[in-house]
Amino acid sequence: FQDSGVKNEPVLAYKKGSKERTELANELQRAAAVTEEVPIVIGDETIRDGEPRFQVMPHDHARKIAKFYYASENTIKKAIDVSVEAQKRWDKTPFEQRVQIWNKAADMMAGAYRQALNAATMLGQSKSVIQAEIDSAAELIDFYRFNIFFLKENSKYQPISEDPSVTRNSLRFRGIDGFIAAISPFNFTAIGGNLAYTPALMGNGVLWKPSDTAVLSNWRIFNIMREAGLPAGVVNFVPADGPTFGRTITASPHLAGINFTGSVPTFNWLWNEVGKNLQVYRNYPRLIGECGGKNYHFVHPSADVESVVAGTIRSAFEYCGQKCSACSRMYVPRSLYEQIKEGLLRERAKLKVGDPTDFSIFTGAVIDDKAFARITGYIKNAKNNPKNKIIGGGEFDDSKGYFVQPTIIETTDPLDKLMTEEIFGPVLTIYVYEDKDLQQTVSLVGSSTKFALTGAVFSTDKAFLKTALEELKMTAGNFYLNDKSTGSVVGQQPFGGGRMSGTNDKAGGPIYVMRWTTPQSIKETF
Ligand code: ALA
Repeated sequence: FQDSGVKNEPVLAYKKGSKERTELANELQRAAAVTEEVPIVIGDETIRDGEPRFQVMPHDHARKIAKFYYASENTIKKAIDVSVEAQKRWDKTPFEQRVQIWNKAADMMAGAYRQALNAATMLGQSKSVIQAEIDSAAELIDFYRFNIFFLKENSKYQPISEDPSVTRNSLRFRGIDGFIAAISPFNFTAIGGNLAYTPALMGNGVLWKPSDTAVLSNWRIFNIMREAGLPAGVVNFVPADGPTFGRTITASPHLAGINFTGSVPTFNWLWNEVGKNLQVYRNYPRLIGECGGKNYHFVHPSADVESVVAGTIRSAFEYCGQKCSACSRMYVPRSLYEQIKEGLLRERAKLKVGDPTDFSIFTGAVIDDKAFARITGYIKNAKNNPKNKIIGGGEFDDSKGYFVQPTIIETTDPLDKLMTEEIFGPVLTIYVYEDKDLQQTVSLVGSSTKFALTGAVFSTDKAFLKTALEELKMTAGNFYLNDKSTGSVVGQQPFGGGRMSGTNDKAGGPIYVMRWTTPQSIKETF
């Protein structure tokens, strides 16, 4: 791996006076001044169905950043036909040729288009400059370059041939006949790029339904891929109403797979729709999903307080707690609680929430009105529940943008909704356990939620870390010892969770690319 020549894209710092900062400031100004038109694209055709819809800036919801359209059922059906036809040609394109397109796109994203992607992510999804840079620049580029690397590494394996003069055995990796539906979320621009374009890299035809609240950044990726040379029709850009899209794709005999990141109820609904239609399909559709999380930081009495504080503030509150990996429940021993509480409150008070185009903010607004209502609902409930006490933050205001202050709540009930349900916002709940109850508190971590996405244990006691590795094995697909639960890097910490957090196929790892192939064993006899 180290010798492979594949490296993570460096994260730029955007220091005052730097070239990247000037370029980004220009892009932000340019993008903020217009409402960009984003059509549906099927093959070579641009389509505008029905009334336009708008993506607004979460920090200033009166301002529209993009105008887009929902594909009708007929348009979605047309996209299916086009991608099924395109797949037949595309799968014949040699890997080397495909790889060139992805390499070229990654270079364009790293160079000329970096700030256009970052600006769309900052304005449309309310990311701070650094959060945009690690997402729509670094992670997106990494997905492209590492997936090529994984593809090459994985195809090195060839079956043995006992006597090659008599028989040659080989294994070839084909795309799946049919189409793949990629349904992507708002919270990472890079995830959209991965969900839509990894199946395509492997020889599939794709319908990409971006999130309504990430349309602009996703549209930028789509255009870069076309400019890099991806033939029309291989990936089709199909914003749509969720249920209409879901019902139409799952009713098609050509459905070959769904590549999904989003909520548990939506993924469950898709499974049910696929189940209802099983008799219809030519292939068993691959259902690959990353869903919710209720990620934890578990603090052992031996933990280093300052690293707990620093890691928890970042994990819980960066990007308003809207990373799927964000910490939202914390277990702290009584013996360390006063110190940790003091540290968290001190650091929380420094966090600046505001306009993401201001390079000094820590975080922007939450994504939309629905998120604002859900998150503030939890905060209001906490105010009325004697088991819970808000010790930091708790304020919110949506008069201009959807702003929610980073909020810290103490609870006396480890099974309270705040400790078990996904909030997907800047709300951290702490349960203080008695030191003597360490063992039973460890057991609670896994038994109190149905999720298993990320988790972190802080301890300087090596024996405890070893125990935690064993006892918390099934509680997190991404498990951190003495580090925060967020910030996985492609190629370094392949990402995904088990249980109801998803199918754990690990984006940014070697298995993921292979999920989008249907291998064929060939025995040739001479
Ligand atoms: N890759 C993102 C993180 O780990 C989801 O925070």
